[in-house]
Formats: sequence, structure tokens, C-alpha cells
Amino acid sequence: MARSGAWILGWLFGLVLTQSVSTTEILCGAVKVVNDSLVLKQRVHFMRHNMPINFTIKVHYEEIFKLRNVSRLRRNLQDQGLLDIDLQETWLRVNLGVLKKIRSVLPRNHPSYNYTVGLEELFHKVGVIVQELYDQREPPERIQNIWEALASPLGKQRTEATPKSLLDNCYHTMMCVFQSCFPSVDYCQRSYWRNEKKAQNQGLTQN
Ligand SMILES: *[C@@H]1O[C@H](CO)[C@@H](O)[C@H](O)[C@H]1NC(C)=O
Ligand SMILES: *[C@@H]1O[C@H](CO)[C@@H](O)[C@H](O)[C@H]1NC(C)=O
Ligand SMILES: *[C@@H]1O[C@H](CO)[C@@H](O)[C@H](O)[C@H]1NC(C)=O
Ligand SMILES: *[C@@H]1O[C@H](CO)[C@@H](O)[C@H](O)[C@H]1NC(C)=O
Repeated sequence: MARSGAWILGWLFGLVLTQSVSTTEILCGAVKVVNDSLVLKQRVHFMRHNMPINFTIKVHYEEIFKLRNVSRLRRNLQDQGLLDIDLQETWLRVNLGVLKKIRSVLPRNHPSYNYTVGLEELFHKVGVIVQELYDQREPPERIQNIWEALASPLGKQRTEATPKSLLDNCYHTMMCVFQSCFPSVDYCQRSYWRNEKKAQNQGLTQN
């Protein structure tokens, strides 16, 4: 699914270049393609069932990017002119790093390898569209510090997380930082995602 998504995004990106549709509309189109590739079933399949039990990878602290982080940044940086696009760019940087780390521990013929590569391709394309909107903006300093930490090599300042939990964070925060693309529900509420957790636990007992 991620691969055909890359094709749709190529087409959307063509629209950016011809400017026949607004960039924001294209961005939302792109994010919805990503949404299709990150549905719970796929996250559970590729990031849990196809991985060794309790398998974790090493990540930066900043790569544990949850709804709580988003609300904290919104609260603390509202006086410093934080915009959604700053959070969107942060979300992208966090998750491109996460996907790269997940891919780097998978052999090429692992069933989750293609899925991960497909997601990376999609995210790079979303990144091109976000860059288009970002232009020459300078984000608040706290955001710049996060980006610097993300770009630094994994030294002693690191922690561990399961691939599934990282992609859960990725999905939940995506629906929150691109909230203008998903206006009907408040995905920034942690309580919203409890249902997902329930569905997942039921699914797991059936297996
Ligand atoms: C996200 O994708 C799923 C599966 O394709 C779909 O059911 C859901 O409606 C999508 N959510 C949004 C907000 O577009
Ligand atoms: C995996 O982690 C869970 C929760 O931390 C623990 O209960 C379980 O025993 C662990 N399983 C293995 C095989 O280590
Ligand atoms: C998110 O919060 C955790 C602590 O709850 C922190 O370790 C991490 O650095 C934060 N991530 C970002 C990107 O701010
Ligand atoms: C991954 O994708 C490539 C090209 O799309 C394909 O040739 C290859 O067989 C796929 N590998 C797996 C393990 O699905």
C-alpha cells in the first residue's frame, strides 16, 4: 500500500509544480495517503507481529515524540510564534529518523523492510511539500534545538523503544499536527486513542 501511495504522491507533487491546486490542499492530500499506510492493522502486522517479542531499537530521546510533547510545545511556545508548520516539520524530522533506524536493523528480505522503505519514500515526498510551505521561516529556538539534537549522532543521550510504539507515536502525532487536514475530530486528545488501544488488545487476544 505504501508503494502505490508513493505513486499518488508523485502525482500530487506534480500538482505542486504546476500550481493548479493550493499547496495546503496538496499537503492534506499527501497526509491522507500517509494515513492509509499507517492504519493500525499494518502497524501491528509489520512492526509487532513480524518482529521478535519486545524487540527495541536505540533512538534519541527527542524521537519519542508523543501527543504530550505536541501539547507541551504548543503551550510553552505560543508566545514565541510557534506555528503548526514548525510542528509538522519537527514531526517529519523525528519520523524520518525513526524509519531510517528501523530500516537499518532489518535485512532486505524481511517482510517489514519494503513497508518501511515505502513509508520513508512517502515521508520524503511530504517533506518536499512542507518545505515548499516553510520557505525561509525561522522556527522558535526550542524547535531549532530539537532539530539539532535529532541531527546529531546517537551518543550516550539515547533511549530504547519498540518499532510499534514509535509508529504509534508517529500516527497519533500526525493526526494532531496536521489537524487542519482532519477537522472533524480532535485527534490531539489522548482520550481519543484509547479506543485504538482497546481494538488492538481485542485483536491480540483473537490471534
Ligand atoms: C485514515 O485511513 C483509514 C484507512 O484507510 C480510513 O478509514 C480513515 O477514514 C482515514 N482517516 C482520515 C481522517 O482520513
Ligand atoms: C515482554 O515485555 C512484557 C512487558 O514488559 C513482559 O511482561 C514479557 O514477559 C516480555 N516478554 C519476553 C518474552 O521477554
Ligand atoms: C518529549 O517528551 C519526552 C519526555 O516526556 C522527552 O524526553 C523528549 O525529548 C520530548 N521530545 C521532544 C521532541 O520534545
Ligand atoms: C520489495 O519491493 C521490491 C520492489 O518493489 C520487490 O522487488 C521485492 O520483491 C520486495 N521484497 C519483499 C520482501 O517483498
